[in-house]
Amino acid sequence: MKKTILITWWTGYIWSHWVVAFEQAWYKTVIIDNLSNSSISTLDWIEKILWYKPDFFEVDLRDIESMDTIFNKYNFDWVVHFAWLKAVGESCDKPLEYFDNNIVWSLKLFELMNKYDVKNIIFSSSATVYDSTNFVNWKGVLENGITWNTTNPYWTTKYLLEQILMDLSKFSWFKVMNLRYFNPIWAHNSGYLWEDPFGIPNNLLPYIMKVANGELKQLQIFGSDYDTIDGTWVRDYIDVVDLIDGHLKAYEKISGTEWFFKVYNLWVGKWVSVLEMLKESEQVTWKNIDYKLVDRRPGDVAQVFCDPSKALNELWWNSETSLENSLMNSWKFYSSK
Ligand code: WQD
Repeated sequence: MKKTILITWWTGYIWSHWVVAFEQAWYKTVIIDNLSNSSISTLDWIEKILWYKPDFFEVDLRDIESMDTIFNKYNFDWVVHFAWLKAVGESCDKPLEYFDNNIVWSLKLFELMNKYDVKNIIFSSSATVYDSTNFVNWKGVLENGITWNTTNPYWTTKYLLEQILMDLSKFSWFKVMNLRYFNPIWAHNSGYLWEDPFGIPNNLLPYIMKVANGELKQLQIFGSDYDTIDGTWVRDYIDVVDLIDGHLKAYEKISGTEWFFKVYNLWVGKWVSVLEMLKESEQVTWKNIDYKLVDRRPGDVAQVFCDPSKALNELWWNSETSLENSLMNSWKFYSSK
C-alpha cells in the first residue's frame, strides 16, 4: 500500500519537483495550493513526466472546511509543509501578513493533523534561523547553532514554527523532520518544471534569467559593500533535485521510528556571490546580463555558512548538482519562453 503524503503549497512551482520525485519513489502525493503564485498548467507538465496527474486541490490553507474535507477523504501518512510566504525583503514590508500567513495558518494545519492523528511532518525550515555569530572556527554552523536574534519577519516565522513543532513533538507525539537550507534554485532537467513566479521575481536566479531572455531590463544588485570576495552578498545555492533527495532520505530515515524532533542542514557548502551568479549565468546563457549596484535590501540576512556533515553521516545525503548544471536547466526553460 503506497504511503500518502499531503504537500501544502503557496509559493510557486517548486512543489511540482517534490510531486514528481515522491511519485517516482512510489509515494502517493496530494497537493493543496491556492495558486497565488503558480498556475494549474503545472499539472499538465507533471503529466508529461509521470503520464498521469496527481490529486490536486486549489485550496487555501485558510479554508478550514475544505482542508477538513481533504483530511477526511485521505488517510495521510505524512505532511510536507511549504504553504507560506517566503521573501525575506517582502517580509520587512508586510510583517503582519507574514505572521498571519506563516504562523496562524500553519497552526490551523497542525490542529487538523492532530484531529486526524496525522502526526508526521517534514518541515522545510530555513538556514535564516542561524546568524553569522554562530560560526565555529569557520567550519560552519551546526544544527544546534539556532539563534532567536532574528533580523526579519520571515526569519521570525521560521524560528517560531520550529519552536512550536518542537513542543508538539514533546507533548503531542508529533514526529518532526526539520530541514534547514537557504537558497533553492531549480529547473527540472526535463525542461518541463521550472521556477517562473508571477510578476517581478523576488529571488535572484529567476530575475537573472528574465534579464537574460529579455523579459526584464536590468538586475539591481542589493549592496556592493559587504565583506565578501567582490562586495556583493553571498549565499549557499542548492539545486532542488538535491534538496528533494535530502527530503526523501530524511523521510526514509525516520518513517517507522519513534516520535522525535530531528534537524538537519541541507547545504552545498559553497558560497556564491551575486556577481559570481551573474557571471556564471552569462557563461551559460551566452547573454550579457545588465546590472546596477544599488543599496542593500532591508532584512537581507548575514552570510551564514552551515556544516552539512550531520546530513552526510546520518542521511547519507550530499548535494551533487553543480551550479552550472542548475543554471543550464533553468536556461533550458527561460530561453524557450
Ligand atoms: C539572494 C541574494 C539578495 C534579488 C532565500 C529564500 C528564502 C529563504 C532565505 C529558505 C541576496 C540578492 C536578490 C535581486 C539581488 N530560504 N538579490 N537582486 O533573500 O537569500 O532568501 O533564502 O527559507 O525563502 O528566498 O534569496 O534570491 O531573494 O536573494 O541583489 O533582484 O541575491 O540581496 O543577497 P534570499 P534571494
